[in-house]
Amino acid sequence: MPKVCVIPGDGVGPEVVGSALEVLHNLDVQFDFESAIVGTQSFEKYGVYITKEALTLATESDAILFGALTTPRRRDYVSPLLLMRWNLDLYANVRPAYCLNKEFCLAPLDIVIVRENTEGMYGAEEEELENNVVVTKRTISEYACQRIIDFAFKYANDHNRKKVSCVHKANVLRTSDEMFKKLFYGTAVNFAFYNKIRSDDVLVDTAAMYLAKEPEYFDVIVTLNLYGDILSDEAAGLIGGLGFAPSANIGKDHALFEPVHGSAPDIAGKDAANPTGMILSAAMMLDHLDKPHSAHIIRESLKHMFQDKNNWTKDIEGPCGTKEFTQRLIKIMDEKSANF
Ligand code: NAI
Ligand code: MG
Repeated sequence: MPKVCVIPGDGVGPEVVGSALEVLHNLDVQFDFESAIVGTQSFEKYGVYITKEALTLATESDAILFGALTTPRRRDYVSPLLLMRWNLDLYANVRPAYCLNKEFCLAPLDIVIVRENTEGMYGAEEEELENNVVVTKRTISEYACQRIIDFAFKYANDHNRKKVSCVHKANVLRTSDEMFKKLFYGTAVNFAFYNKIRSDDVLVDTAAMYLAKEPEYFDVIVTLNLYGDILSDEAAGLIGGLGFAPSANIGKDHALFEPVHGSAPDIAGKDAANPTGMILSAAMMLDHLDKPHSAHIIRESLKHMFQDKNNWTKDIEGPCGTKEFTQRLIKIMDEKSANF
């Protein structure tokens, strides 16, 4: 039986993870769930944000289901999420963004952002020089660029996507981003020939504009860490908000599934979080653990849910709190899943 490490985390994390677990328990799948305390509660209890035991549990699991963490105000903080991305080498951050109902989407998006997940600015290595000047180190390696490009094209091919766009800033970063772009076209040529997948490249600032103005321009985006982080929040905004955006952090041997959003302290504890992003992340986990039909039931049931305004969540001015939404979704799964 696959082992799933559950990390609810801080803020709305436990609320949306609780909802996703209820949905999973209602499906015909068997997992061995084990919870780990990570984040603020871990710090209060053990003096560290993630213990060795929690990291070991995550490492030994077939998948990790992760809510969100609050970043404390201390300069020596290293995010347990970043630690897991590095230690488990979760190099590909896959972030689909598609519109569940045009009535609450700003753009009819259906894209997947594939974000490099181990390098860039996220080492957060900063050096203070004289006169209040700070230099931040940004690492971009040929190895990491090539493997995220390979991942993106393979993903596009496996998911019947037609185009991969490389998003970069090579007009300014003429060594690092130029290398990324060059490697991209080196791979694109093979996929154009054998798999009929088209390719192009777009500057990151232009990409931000196209996403909003001409969203059908994009299909799969492959990009570096910081650009992917920013563009995926923009994409989430266009499909109704952060509550709608799922993600998967994939490595060769490990995988972690989390919503794109953070711990949302402004709505935490108010039963106001939209659990859709977390539930769709759980669906991505089901695909990863070879349960595509169960993943399909979740996606179709969510589509069905949002057709009816009575089922809308509070972030899109609907009446449903997190718990009510979850109960209604489970009811729809029970009633409709035979048709999906
Ligand atoms: P956030 O993503 O937590 O919230 C941004 C806005 O979106 C807020 O108005 C929030 O209410 C709303 N929102 C987020 N999730 C929602 C949901 N499920 N349903 C409805 N509305 C939702 O980003 P913010 O406020 O910038 O960061 C809060 C904390 O989370 C910070 O400490 C930040 O460092 C941390 N963070 C953690 C992440 C993670 O654990 N993966 C990712 C991003 C931020
Ligand atoms: Mg982000």
